[in-house]
Amino acid sequence: MVHAHMTAWFLALILFFVAIGLQKSGKEKGFKVLKMVLRVFYILIIGTGLGLIFSLANISFMYIVKVLVGIWVIAMVEIILSRKTKGASTKVPWILFIIALVLVLYLGFSLPLGTYLFK
Ligand code: HEM
Repeated sequence: MVHAHMTAWFLALILFFVAIGLQKSGKEKGFKVLKMVLRVFYILIIGTGLGLIFSLANISFMYIVKVLVGIWVIAMVEIILSRKTKGASTKVPWILFIIALVLVLYLGFSLPLGTYLFK
């Protein structure tokens, strides 16, 4: 489940940057398709994340924080893409995206399941 979760968010991040690249180069159709594909990835990320939560015997506070920050990253991705569609400024959501991403990676790798990079 940890690997499915890792694969899901890693691919979603790549698709997010590809989507931005497509929009920048004026490929609106590809951009639109990727936005829809990304929504499927949100479900996969949340589904595998919840699967990990339900595999635990007891859920500590940091796990609740991990879930909320994970959802925060997804929300920022969605907001950045929708603002890009409208041609609005994406500065604030980008800053929030970077903060949330650093936090979620730290939390994911410091919590006990799977890879244990930070203690
Ligand atoms: C784009 C958003 C997300 C990113 C980048 C992300 C990243 C990560 C990373 C790096 C890990 C550690 C994997 C490992 O230890 O090998 C992890 C684990 C986990 N994630 Fe996420 N995650 C995201 C969203 C979510 C969401 C939405 C949920 C819940 C619905 C969630 C729940 C979990 C849980 C429960 C774990 C296990 C924690 C542990 O290592 O003990 N994640 N995630």
